Amino acid sequence: MESVQKKITDLKTLLRHYQYQYYVINKSDIPDSEYDDLMDNLRKLETENPNLRTQDSPSQCVGGLSLNSAFKKVHHKIPMLSLNTVIDKRSYLAFNQRLTKRLNISTDITLCCELKIDGLAVSLLYINGGLARASTRGDGVIGEDITDNIRTISVIPKYLIGDKIPEYLEVRGEVFMSHAGFKKINHRAYRDGHKIFSNPRNAAAGSLRNLDPFVTAKRPLSFVCYGLGCCKGRAMPQSHWACLQHFQDWGLPISDFLRLCYSPEDVFAFYEHVKMHRQSLGFDIDGVVVKVDDLKLQTRLGSSARAPKWAVAFKFPAQEKITRLHNVEFQVGRTGVITPVAKLAPVRILGVLVSRATLHNLHEIDRLGLKIGDYVVVRRAGDVIPQIISVIKSDCGVDLSLKSIIVPKQCPGCGSKIHCISGETVLRCTGGLTCSAQRKSAIRHFVSRQALNIHGIGQTVINQLVDKGYIQNPADLFTLTLDQLTSLERIGPKSAQNIIDALVRSKKTTFARFIYALGISKIGLVTAENLASYFVTLDALLRADLHTLRSVHGIGQEAGSCLRSFLNEVSNREIIRVLVVEVGIYWEPVIPKYR
Ligand code: IVH
Repeated sequence: MESVQKKITDLKTLLRHYQYQYYVINKSDIPDSEYDDLMDNLRKLETENPNLRTQDSPSQCVGGLSLNSAFKKVHHKIPMLSLNTVIDKRSYLAFNQRLTKRLNISTDITLCCELKIDGLAVSLLYINGGLARASTRGDGVIGEDITDNIRTISVIPKYLIGDKIPEYLEVRGEVFMSHAGFKKINHRAYRDGHKIFSNPRNAAAGSLRNLDPFVTAKRPLSFVCYGLGCCKGRAMPQSHWACLQHFQDWGLPISDFLRLCYSPEDVFAFYEHVKMHRQSLGFDIDGVVVKVDDLKLQTRLGSSARAPKWAVAFKFPAQEKITRLHNVEFQVGRTGVITPVAKLAPVRILGVLVSRATLHNLHEIDRLGLKIGDYVVVRRAGDVIPQIISVIKSDCGVDLSLKSIIVPKQCPGCGSKIHCISGETVLRCTGGLTCSAQRKSAIRHFVSRQALNIHGIGQTVINQLVDKGYIQNPADLFTLTLDQLTSLERIGPKSAQNIIDALVRSKKTTFARFIYALGISKIGLVTAENLASYFVTLDALLRADLHTLRSVHGIGQEAGSCLRSFLNEVSNREIIRVLVVEVGIYWEPVIPKYR
């Protein structure tokens, strides 16, 4: 018994900690699903041991005290409740059975199915059609007055429109931020050295509870109305669905994804439909909400202190899990961009074992404040590459067991110098022609139509030539023998001879095509033409410093430094020498166009 008591106490402490983070300081360190699991464990233990259930247990209240005294307090006469959760068809059917049993109805009940948007619940009060007050949910009974901030959200009407507007109307809904909006403000915050938000929900919460409405006004917040709080001065329809239609008529935004369902099968179909389209919605949802549509039946069913008995949140399987970061590897892509990749302790998400996640660039490592050994929240959204969403930082100060991530100075593929572009966040290998990771794409580019235009050498041929070890760089193409070529799949003697002939023909080219063929990042054909007519000779180009390169039309800071780094790399210069001196690539002298 003592150990059950201890388990309950531990769970309560943990849940109160997370509730404080979530509701008070708008910071969530753990995924919702982990929180739900902890809450489920607590509820289960309390149901098995009712004498250990106390009034102040996190399972008995909506959760979260609102401690920020900067906002005026608002008392919700009708509490803003939370929702009970089901996670699979079986538990949904149990909810459905409870409904029919409690209502003593044998026929199917009409249900209104909606999205469960991952944002913040707010209450909007309209008096005589004008927005009089807006508040957060807070602890469900006491919220915060955020009227000034809410007024900055363009989709929320300051005045209702249309006919028969009630004297007093309180509606409830969700304020949220779209993925695009979230990306935009984080990009801006990073550029200006401000705090970066870890997910759209936190960004919405931080924006809504900002003490300066001018700051809120700059945040791309959205709103969807999902329910009636209170209405006076006008009879409302007795159906939730019909109420939503009225709200829409009065100018309040409602969701595009609403469906009336008449059986559990209908609900499952809606659930699957939403789950399938989840990634393309453009904002976060974590399930669907199923509500009894008839308001009279809702009243008959009633509510507990925490949640209504007439609605349930049918959650999607968790997309996020916690795991540990073992290491960060730097991987060279086909185009030379070097991407940090997180190596994780394997964790199963949506049925797939995840052990790697992309970190995109150095900005992302910075944003997350990531260290090796950290516990991290990993998200796998459908087919999207798994991502680290946030880092769980211990509250106990600096953890000495964590190691900083060392950014390499040399390419892990070929040892060439790494060049940092885009405000020092994107790493790129300067190895170009020699880097093993870029080899195949560099050769493919070299033979392409606008470059040296060498017929008969497609990607499959290149793959075989590289895999068999016949060639490592573009210059090696000119050493190929008929025997080597005929040893490739589907290359007969005639095709092999054609390739050799094409190689010989390609030796006569133009200076611009030659520059372009080197495949230097940011140097397209037009820029290559400008370089050719500016420098006229290869020697002059090789000798040019960054300043001179930048005086060429079309060469900005980024292209200039990519070009200079490429030409500085000894291995690239050697290949250029072999191509011109040993292979004998040549071009007609360039007539200088401008200087
Ligand atoms: S109805 C009494 N409908 O989910 C019923 N809530 O976990 C109260 N939410 O606090 C809520 N989308 O912030 C309802 N279509 C929806 C919702 C929704 C998101 C949020 C809301 C609520 C939380 C409960």
